[in-house]
Amino acid sequence: MASVNTSEGLSFDFSEEQVAVREAARDFAQTQLLPGVIERDENQVFDKGLLKKMGEMGFLGMMVSPEYGGGGMDTVSYVLAIEEIAKVDASAAVIMSVNNSLVCWGLEKYGTPEQKEQYLPRLATGEIIGAFCLSEPEAGSDATSQHTSAIDKGDHYLVNGTKNWITNGGISSVCMVIAQTDYEKKHRGINCLIIEKGLPGFEVGKKENKMGIRASDTHSLMFNDVRVPKSCRIGEDGFGFRFAMGTLNGGRIGIAAQALGIASGAFERALAYARERKAFGKPIFEHQAVQFKLSEMATRIDAARLLVLRAAVLKDQGRDFVKEAAMAKLFASETAMWTTTEAVQIHGGYGYVKEYHVERMMRDAKITQIYEGTSEIQNIVIARALP
Ligand code: CAA
Repeated sequence: MASVNTSEGLSFDFSEEQVAVREAARDFAQTQLLPGVIERDENQVFDKGLLKKMGEMGFLGMMVSPEYGGGGMDTVSYVLAIEEIAKVDASAAVIMSVNNSLVCWGLEKYGTPEQKEQYLPRLATGEIIGAFCLSEPEAGSDATSQHTSAIDKGDHYLVNGTKNWITNGGISSVCMVIAQTDYEKKHRGINCLIIEKGLPGFEVGKKENKMGIRASDTHSLMFNDVRVPKSCRIGEDGFGFRFAMGTLNGGRIGIAAQALGIASGAFERALAYARERKAFGKPIFEHQAVQFKLSEMATRIDAARLLVLRAAVLKDQGRDFVKEAAMAKLFASETAMWTTTEAVQIHGGYGYVKEYHVERMMRDAKITQIYEGTSEIQNIVIARALP
């Protein structure tokens, strides 16, 4: 049993189950995800067979109750698994994080029994994949500024607009779409609708050609007079923005764990390389210039891990975790960017070519400072929560 202590009197041990989940994720990442990770990045496609296996392993609905076909696991198990997956393949980690945190979790917490019954069992097993659609061409950080409309037509909403940079946009069957119903009420006039692909007027737009997480599927989505039954709304009328914020609070823990995984994956590679590569008559690990980078990496990664685990434990205990999730995401994503850049530096010329993996990790790290709230937004969330 591994023991971890955090600040504010929180202390916890990993249970046997949590350790087993971490081991299973590590094994899956090493045996199933590592072969082909470079090609998937190059080809910008995540293998369907691998996604199916992730579903069979229970990685796509980890926190969903067993009643709805999920793993019924806690957030700590979830972050341990994401870290292991992201160490090897950050694209797999974001597919997993969005399906778990932004789709399944929000649906289970805020959905009606009928909505849960209809979608959760298939989402939890990966039979279908979900997407979370908040961002728009003109609404990124300023998320209340929604241009997509969902006009109340009595028994249905008429949805028009465009969503941008939607993770799982192409592979998803069901989308949680945030849209404005009443413009006068501002953010309190926003709704979240569960919209299925295939409805007339719902089109998948272009696939983004991204810097990193290239095997994960990112699209724009277009809605042109899409009729969505009222029964597809989450919560009461006008609850959509609070739904989005509440869901993103938890999502940020998943992305923090992804960033932590990217950082620790790059660190492990840099450490192994530094022990084996010789320069000036000795392994480069014995040069202080390299040692200091590695010790700094190890320290920042440990600090990030403690922040991620603290946020996960608070969430599991039903305590407020908004500030702590933002701190975890802020620090872990900055750690991922810095660590991967230094890992490339330690590898020298080898770090700049694909076979050594760290250049991909450096490209993958960047998005963790941007999506699910930029570092600047995390600072705003933290500052607003200061005593
Ligand atoms: N948790 C719960 N509720 C929150 C909240 C939070 N973290 N932040 C705000 N709210 C609530 C407020 O209480 C308020 O509700 P009431 O009026 O009902 O009391 C309401 O939301 C509006 O809040 P603000 O007045 O604070 O709104 P604002 O416009 O000043 O700022 C913001 C809000 C924090 C900047 C918000 O817009 C934000 O988080 N922006 C970032 C958006 C984001 O994270 N986008 C990520 C896209 S999704 C993605 O990346 C997924 C993917 O594909 C990987």
